[in-house]
Amino acid sequence: MATKAELPARPRDWMSNSLLDGLVALVVGGGSGIGEATAITLAANGARVAVADRRKEAADGVAKKIEADGGEALSLAMDVAVASEIGAGVSELIAKFGQLDIVVNSAGVIFPGSLEDCSLDDWRTSFLVNVEGALLLGRACLPHLRKSKSASIVNISSLAGGRGYPNGGAYGPSKAALISLTRQMALEWAADGIRVNVVSPGTIDTPLTRANMRPEIIAEREAKIPLGRLGVATELADTVVFLASPAASFVTAQELNCDGGLSQSLMAQKFFANK
Ligand SMILES: NC(=O)c1ccc[n+]([C@@H]2O[C@H](COP(=O)([O-])OP(=O)(O)OC[C@H]3O[C@@H](n4cnc5c(N)ncnc54)[C@H](O)[C@@H]3O)[C@@H](O)[C@H]2O)c1
Repeated sequence: MATKAELPARPRDWMSNSLLDGLVALVVGGGSGIGEATAITLAANGARVAVADRRKEAADGVAKKIEADGGEALSLAMDVAVASEIGAGVSELIAKFGQLDIVVNSAGVIFPGSLEDCSLDDWRTSFLVNVEGALLLGRACLPHLRKSKSASIVNISSLAGGRGYPNGGAYGPSKAALISLTRQMALEWAADGIRVNVVSPGTIDTPLTRANMRPEIIAEREAKIPLGRLGVATELADTVVFLASPAASFVTAQELNCDGGLSQSLMAQKFFANK
C-alpha cells in the first residue's frame, strides 16, 4: 500500500504545459488546501490563474508560488458569500486577463455539530458560504463564460453531501444542496456551452481536516478507506483539472467522488466484519 511519502511530488503537468493553453481560471478558496493545489496545477498546465480567497494574504502567497514557477497569476480578496466582492474580483480578473474560461469553487466552511445542537447561525453560514456563494459566483461569471469556447465550472462538495454522518448537522445538507445546484446550473447553462460538474472529496489531508479532526480520528478514518490512507490535495487538484479541461468536453452535470473508494466501501467493510 502506498504511503503518503511515496506519492509522486506534483503538480502534474498533463500535456507539457499545454492542456489549458490560452485559458484563464478563477479559483475561489485558492489560498489553502484543495484550492491552492488546484490553482497551482491549473497554472502548471498552462492556464493563467486568478487566486481568490477571503484571506488575501493566503491568495497572495499562492499567486507568488505560481509566478515563481513561471506562471501568470493574479491574487484577489474575495468572500464568496459577498456579491460585491465577487463582482469586483471578476472585473479585476477581466481587466487583467481579458477572458474567463474555468471557475473552481473550493471555498467552504464546516461547523461540526448535530442537527439538535448546531446553532442557527452555523446552519445559516453553512448555506450562505457553501450554497449561496456558489450561486453568486456562478451568476457573476456567467456573462464571461458564455464568451468562452471552453467554459466550465467545478464545485467542490463532499461525500457528506450524499450521506449522513455523526456531527454533520449543517455541513452535509449544505453540501447536498451544492450537488443539486451543480446539476441545475449544468442543465440551465448547457445551451451556452458551459459544463458544470462537482467533485466530492473523501477525507483529504488539508489544514481544514487537521483543524477539525484529532489524530486518532484521522487514523480511524484511514483504516476505513479502501486505499488505506487520506487523499492529498494534489490528487483532488488532478481530478478538478481533468473536469475543468477540454479533456472532459462531453462531461457535464456529474458528481465525481475522489475518495480512495470510501463511498463504495460499506458492503466491503460489512463482509470483512463477517469473516
Ligand atoms: N479536506 C477534506 O477532507 C474535505 C472533504 C470534503 C470536502 N471538502 C471541501 O473542499 C473544499 C476545500 O477544503 P480544504 O480542505 O482545502 O480547506 P482549507 O481550509 O484548507 O481551504 C479552504 C479555503 O477556502 C477559504 N474560504 C473559506 N470560506 C471562504 C469564503 N467565504 N470566501 C472565500 N474563501 C473562503 C479559506 O480561507 C481557505 O483558504 C471545501 O469546500 C470543503 O468543504 C474538503
